[in-house]
Amino acid sequence: MKIKARPNGPLLVETGGKCVHSYEGGEDTQEQEFIALCRCGASAQKPFCDGSHKGVDFQAPAGELTIG
Ligand code: FES
Repeated sequence: MKIKARPNGPLLVETGGKCVHSYEGGEDTQEQEFIALCRCGASAQKPFCDGSHKGVDFQAPAGELTIG
């Protein structure tokens, strides 16, 4: 699994093709290779990035984490 930190933006998580999001009161399944997780705290769709980082002057370096 790889997690990429976008410069001044979200964490891109490699899903392997499918992501199941379980939360209080429900569950959603997304079929996509990557999901973007908010790391700025401004998203209205947490835990997912909704692009709000662009309007809050969020600054963080790029990086990559490989697991396994
Ligand atoms: S990182 Fe994109 S909205 Fe927070």
